[in-house]
Amino acid sequence: MLVQLRGVTRRFGSREVLKGIDLDLCEGETLVVLGQSGSGKSVLLKHINGLLRPDSGGVTVLGCDVGRLPERDLVELRRRVSYIFQMGALFDSLNVGENVAFPLREHTTLGEGEVRERVAAYLGRVGLAGTERLTTAELSGGMRKRVALARGLVLEPAVILYDEPTAGLDPLTGLAITRLIREISEGGETASLVVTHDLAVARELGGKVAFLRDGRFVFRGELEQAACEDGLVGEFVRAGGVRD
Ligand SMILES: Nc1ncnc2c1ncn2[C@@H]1O[C@H](COP(=O)(O)OP(=O)(O)O)[C@@H](O)[C@H]1O
Ligand SMILES: [Mg+2]
Repeated sequence: MLVQLRGVTRRFGSREVLKGIDLDLCEGETLVVLGQSGSGKSVLLKHINGLLRPDSGGVTVLGCDVGRLPERDLVELRRRVSYIFQMGALFDSLNVGENVAFPLREHTTLGEGEVRERVAAYLGRVGLAGTERLTTAELSGGMRKRVALARGLVLEPAVILYDEPTAGLDPLTGLAITRLIREISEGGETASLVVTHDLAVARELGGKVAFLRDGRFVFRGELEQAACEDGLVGEFVRAGGVRD
């Protein structure tokens, strides 16, 4: 088991955002967490790489108790757990190559030649070979996401957390990014957790989905099954064009 959450709760002021979350993610597994905006999806992800700590319950990632890990060990953990932020969050003062090289320079002792090789390899993997010298201002929305993906992959993480990977993209570009995520997750040991309100992502990735509502998982199973559910889960999934 790479990621295990048990009874995780978290409040901000008087608002309880997570109300008892259990979650398991194994090697090679992809789980899509669906939920409306504001349902706590990003808060959930931030508990897995230790950006937030739970009020109660257990968060175990790669064998570490994330809730109790000292800050310096969290840095090491984040090297193995990649968080791909909602909006890509590139450094605008760095060019594409420097953005992708950033984690390598922060976390490894690789020499310049090796850094350059790895950056080229991962840019190639996301369909952006040879774009090292572009500035972030020259990138389209889809290209920004690809660069963010390359940067998230370059340390060869054990767990990848995707936060709304298609947010702000047109449907075709969103589909291309989702297919890339599928390619990355297929056939490897990497575990992927994808949080989204975009049903097209869940459809394209296939497999298991979990539905977050009011701080709890109210459904776990196949997407087609979710479309047959009563209430919000069924309505949400059918509204995204998934039929039973
Ligand atoms: N750092 C924070 N401080 C206070 N409230 C927060 C913080 N982060 C998230 N929240 C609140 O938690 C709720 C869930 O947020 P979030 O996880 O970002 O939702 P989602 O990603 O599903 O759209 C929201 O009501 C948000 O305002
Ligand atoms: Mg969010």
